[in-house]
Amino acid sequence: MQVVARYWGRKPVELVKPLIEDLEGVVVDPFGGSGSIVYAALELGKKGVYIDLNPYAWLVAHVFIAKADHKKFIEAASHVVDKAYELLSSSSSAKLKGDYLRYGDRPFLKRRNFDRVSDFFSAENRKKLRSILRAIDSIDTDANTKLALYLAFCNTLYPSSLMKRCGAGSWGVPSYWAPEKSCPEDPFNVFVRVIRNMLDFFSKHKHYKVAYNLNSLDTADAVLLLEDGISFNKYRSSWALVTDPPHVDEVQYMELSFFYWAWLKKSNFRSIVRKVLGKYPRYWFSKELTVNPNRNQTLDSYIAKLFRFMTKTRKVKSKVLIMHEEREYVLNKVIELAKSIWGKIKVEYIEINEQRNIGPRGGRTYTIIKA
Ligand SMILES: C[S@@+](CC[C@H](N)C(=O)[O-])C[C@H]1O[C@@H](n2cnc3c(N)ncnc32)[C@H](O)[C@@H]1O
Repeated sequence: MQVVARYWGRKPVELVKPLIEDLEGVVVDPFGGSGSIVYAALELGKKGVYIDLNPYAWLVAHVFIAKADHKKFIEAASHVVDKAYELLSSSSSAKLKGDYLRYGDRPFLKRRNFDRVSDFFSAENRKKLRSILRAIDSIDTDANTKLALYLAFCNTLYPSSLMKRCGAGSWGVPSYWAPEKSCPEDPFNVFVRVIRNMLDFFSKHKHYKVAYNLNSLDTADAVLLLEDGISFNKYRSSWALVTDPPHVDEVQYMELSFFYWAWLKKSNFRSIVRKVLGKYPRYWFSKELTVNPNRNQTLDSYIAKLFRFMTKTRKVKSKVLIMHEEREYVLNKVIELAKSIWGKIKVEYIEINEQRNIGPRGGRTYTIIKA
């Protein structure tokens, strides 16, 4: 199916549906990413609880699931375009504050040829992007529409950046690599195109009712939380857990999403999140489940976090863990851990053909641990 934004490690909705079909109860995905597992549950007529630590992932999932009212979105977006032109002359082309690709004294693992998010944009494009973001900040509309506009802004960043290859499609994901010759587009043109694509998506797919509090599960289709899925302590025994946690040595989700966060953290996105969730979004690098040598996050600390997660979710009635790990010794560690904490488990394998190869080693197999 069509998606509303690119996200690393996204699972196709059709791939996960068969894993969910026969489960009873609300489907909870504590490593929710772009929201495809909860989306699959909703399409199957179930309810879902989405959790992710990463504010950018939460934004993608929100717009993917809730969408925005077509009429309000067109109206708001056209105001944004007019307003952005108006604000252009007073917008700054300066570099963003606090946008270094580093943790204190160590660089991001994924840092490549530039030090800062700002370095990926020409001064002119920074000025134009700032005027779009300021225009979105100034629009008074409902939360779904406003969040969709912030995602439209995020979708505008990559094609307007020096990462955009000449002649390549503009539907890319940031990798922090700017080729020697790149072809950034005009942010105003990209924004208008992105709005059109999003409208097309909103008109073709079902809009689900979302809420932000577990007490609202009766009246909403899904609850969308911005939390640490490992220390979350409201797992219910009647739920069905279906999730694919970050793979041991694959994607650095927080580092890569920082490309968007460096912009969003300066905008009113934070206030909208506070309005709906009752708290400001934070960027918790240290809570991420990952292996990252530049942050002293090792395979042992990864397994220790997984241990805590499995202990927290032990009481959940049915559990499905999707792993795409190809190294047998790592996989065996995870399987042994699941066996010792969750009790009786079943291990199955899915071969994928229609999707790109997965993982740094180009594998084609997902391991499914069921408990
Ligand atoms: C493999 S991705 C999930 C992809 C998702 N199934 C999809 O189709 O888009 C793993 C996700 O786990 C999130 N994550 C990592 N550590 C987390 C934590 N402690 N709590 C919640 N989410 C976390 C990452 O931000 C990332 O979005």
